[in-house]
Amino acid sequence: MMMRLNFKTTLLVLVVATVSFLLASWNNCGTLLFHTDWKTKYHKDRINTESGYQEIDCHINGDYSIGCRKEGDEVYIPFSFIHKYFEIYGKLATYDGLERFEWLHSYSKIVNPKGKYDPRGVFMTFENYNVEVRDRVKCISGTDGVPISTQWESQGYYYPTQIAQFGLSHYSKNLTEPEPHRKIIEDSDKVKQNWNVPQGSVMNRIYDKQANSYVLKFATPETSTSGISLKLDHVLDFVLKWDLNIKDNGSVTVALQSREKKEMYYLHYVTNNVVLYNYNNHVHYGIGQANHQWKRLTRDLVVDLQKGLYLNDKSRKKIPRSKLKVVKITLYGSGMIDNMTLSTSEHMEQFYDAARWFVANQNITSGGWPNPVRRKVASGMAILEPGWYSSMGQGHAISVLARAYYHSGEAKYLQAAIRGLRPFRLTSAKGGVAALFLSKYVWYEEYPTTPSSFILNGFIYSLIGLYDLKSIAVGKDAEEATRLFNQGMISLKNMLTLYDTGSGTTYDLRHFTLKTAPNLARWDYHSTHINQLLLLNSIDNDPIFITTAERWIGYMNGKRAAHN
Ligand SMILES: *[C@@H]1O[C@H](CO)[C@@H](O)[C@H](O)[C@H]1NC(C)=O
Ligand SMILES: *[C@@H]1O[C@H](CO)[C@@H](O)[C@H](O)[C@H]1NC(C)=O
Ligand SMILES: *[C@@H]1O[C@H](CO)[C@@H](O)[C@H](O)[C@H]1NC(C)=O
Ligand SMILES: *[C@@H]1O[C@H](CO)[C@@H](O)[C@H](O)[C@H]1NC(C)=O
Repeated sequence: MMMRLNFKTTLLVLVVATVSFLLASWNNCGTLLFHTDWKTKYHKDRINTESGYQEIDCHINGDYSIGCRKEGDEVYIPFSFIHKYFEIYGKLATYDGLERFEWLHSYSKIVNPKGKYDPRGVFMTFENYNVEVRDRVKCISGTDGVPISTQWESQGYYYPTQIAQFGLSHYSKNLTEPEPHRKIIEDSDKVKQNWNVPQGSVMNRIYDKQANSYVLKFATPETSTSGISLKLDHVLDFVLKWDLNIKDNGSVTVALQSREKKEMYYLHYVTNNVVLYNYNNHVHYGIGQANHQWKRLTRDLVVDLQKGLYLNDKSRKKIPRSKLKVVKITLYGSGMIDNMTLSTSEHMEQFYDAARWFVANQNITSGGWPNPVRRKVASGMAILEPGWYSSMGQGHAISVLARAYYHSGEAKYLQAAIRGLRPFRLTSAKGGVAALFLSKYVWYEEYPTTPSSFILNGFIYSLIGLYDLKSIAVGKDAEEATRLFNQGMISLKNMLTLYDTGSGTTYDLRHFTLKTAPNLARWDYHSTHINQLLLLNSIDNDPIFITTAERWIGYMNGKRAAHN
């Protein structure tokens, strides 16, 4: 790129050109990558110019050279070098008619909390999370309505921490987003559609005692290819919710069409246990075997489509919501449906899918939600075998369940949350999540490693879970949550500054337990640390939280601790 420059241009252009090259790489790969060998590149470009600067070699620590420029007494170093050397970020921005270069010490931002943390309210800044669209989420399970992770095992598994984050983000979005638009498609009471029933198929509306309402009963012959169908022309609202009672193998198929290219896509919700399967734009989600029970399904059709298409083609571009419409719903097999709606969002339904998952998938004896994958946290630490518990997973689950109990009043959520305290009583070695720092401070481990890892953000998330439960439970359960919370807060207040590097934070204390180099927190984890301290500052008046948070915010703007 530099070769193509007109060398009458100024130094700024040199920096500019290099930077736009950097940004291009950044956009493509998500992180900045360097394709340039500085030693050779700048030597080749050495050209004297008429614009007052001089090409000059810059010796870096007596080790190698890069090409720089000198103008009067000032020396100019290429920004791409500075970026790499100091991990400083930069981009060009034009506003008020002027182009500027914006230098950023950190790529992360701090969101100031809006007020005192409320265990019944928004969870930290999770209203901005979009767990289901992450690449490491394979899809939303058709049987449970919760994410399936591929982070550590490619075939996919239920990861309690991720499921909780999915639930907490939907709960938080419910409290922060505008009211959704909701359209009833068919409820057999107020809204009855004119479904197309081909010969041989039957459909009628009957009163169902269990549901205590009129429902739509359908049956198509096994050989039917057309099914019982309803034509639609619906845009913008893509969350389909319906109650389903399947009698025989059947499926509900939703046809989507891209508004520009007219390409057709099909989502098949099928009675089997195949998680996700895609063939030729026909995406299948298994919703479990027919069991003659009513079951509510809440599906974000765009997420479901995207995940299916991505399964076969990882480079496939996402289809924006605005480019799609729902054109048809078809019923196959036999069963009943009721309360079918299309909405902008169904945050509480998705939140309860997560909450129900935690009730159904807890080990009642141990109170834990097992992580079903092998995990090696760091070399020098013993491998965690499938079934390990995480203080963060436990804490997050408790935060979900405490909110579900508050919102619904149903005791099963509170009971599961209380059982979730049990692993906090046991050390990592005994199958729990507790560790002891210097035989003195109790810590709740995100990964119950040997030796201990003392991960900061996971610990604080577990404290928030304990706080949520102590605020909502009563009697001896509230007392136990309070005791575990207080004990953790004492450790945190005493250990917090161990994570301070003078210019950032460490993610854990492996430099202490493994005697290795510190594991520096990248900026998004550093800002998570700060957001967590700001939250704790709103519920505990010890000045350590705000003092430390302010110093750590300073590091994001290039401030450093003084040296001697
Ligand atoms: C939030 O949930 C309530 C039900 O608890 C619902 O009435 C409301 O429409 C939801 N709002 C949003 C923005 O999701
Ligand atoms: C459909 O919704 C109505 C009103 O909320 C409810 O009474 C009925 O039980 C629901 N149907 C099913 C099958 O759950
Ligand atoms: C339903 O599907 C299963 C598996 O595909 C099959 O074994 C079973 O015979 C089917 N049942 C009916 C009633 O078609
Ligand atoms: C549940 O936890 C208990 C106690 O730790 C353990 O013995 C048991 O194997 C666990 N059950 C399952 C199904 O993992």
